[in-house]
Amino acid sequence: MAIRRGDDVYVYVNSCPHLGTPLDFTPGRFLSLDKTHIVCATHGALFRIGDGYCVSGPCAGKSLQTAPFKIHDGFILLSD
Ligand code: FES
Repeated sequence: MAIRRGDDVYVYVNSCPHLGTPLDFTPGRFLSLDKTHIVCATHGALFRIGDGYCVSGPCAGKSLQTAPFKIHDGFILLSD
């Protein structure tokens, strides 16, 4: 999943470090209501957008897995 905040883009694997379930409530919906954190739909863990670090919930202290990417012509391309 990819989140853009201003000119910055953050790309993470859509898998919670707690149980490995997808993070989104509904397809493509990843953010808390106040849009300050990524939230896991299963048990409500909160992750910082900028580095994927879990600040609250059963996986506190763990982080989302980043996905390497590059931006080309306005498209986010996952890379190896
Ligand atoms: S599966 Fe994400 S907090 Fe439990």
